[in-house]
Amino acid sequence: MNSKIVIFPLSKTVVMTSLTTERLILRSWRDSDSKPFFEQINADSDVMEYFPSTLSREESDALATELQRRIDVNGWGLWAVEEKSSGQFIGFVGLNSPLIELPFTPYVEVGWRLSKAFWGKGYATEAATKALEIAFAELELDEVVSFTAVPNLRSQAVMTRLGLRDTGENFNHPAVPSESPLYEHVLFKITRDEWAKSL
Ligand SMILES: CC(C)(COP(=O)(O)OP(=O)(O)OC[C@H]1O[C@@H](n2cnc3c(N)ncnc32)[C@H](O)[C@@H]1OP(=O)(O)O)[C@@H](O)C(=O)NCCC(=O)NCCS
Repeated sequence: MNSKIVIFPLSKTVVMTSLTTERLILRSWRDSDSKPFFEQINADSDVMEYFPSTLSREESDALATELQRRIDVNGWGLWAVEEKSSGQFIGFVGLNSPLIELPFTPYVEVGWRLSKAFWGKGYATEAATKALEIAFAELELDEVVSFTAVPNLRSQAVMTRLGLRDTGENFNHPAVPSESPLYEHVLFKITRDEWAKSL
């Protein structure tokens, strides 16, 4: 892998450590999230179908720590998501400025990963709608992207529901082995104007 660290140049910073939607809370990560994050998400081969591999407990814990570190540094990020009605941790949704250089760097992406028990309820779209509101109304970004492996149609359906459009600018992900069916990625985008018109 040939990647270098890229810092997204934001002109505005805000602190967003807890957000609510109709059915969800997007919040900082807690120690109690570690077990379900590993068992129900990162160790689940269905959830991780479009990633190169599932994660070990150590990798899963390290990812949660890193996601919280980015929220601490930026004031926004890939928040832990909690279902209001049950208080259960269900995964993460939010904004991310990855540390890996891609053909369209610099960028902020909107992303998601939910426990399978919580798919099919509109939760990813609901939480990501709030994340886009933060991206455009608070951070005043010009554009937000989202990308995933070509076969990950479920994720692409979320992008489309959110109003992102397929740019047709597919690219090969440098962190994925070139022989993998997950090597080629689609790139979706939404601009601030497009977002404002969709309200
Ligand atoms: C990608 C992922 C978040 C999509 O989850 P999802 O639940 O399908 O997406 P949404 O939250 O938009 O939910 C939409 C579904 O909920 C249904 N739904 C049920 N009640 C709903 C409600 N009240 N409001 C909206 N939709 C509702 C919709 O009809 C739709 O169902 P369908 O898939 O049968 O068409 C999930 O599959 C996932 O976590 N995958 C693994 C991680 C991953 O691939 N991440 C992306 C990597 S880049």
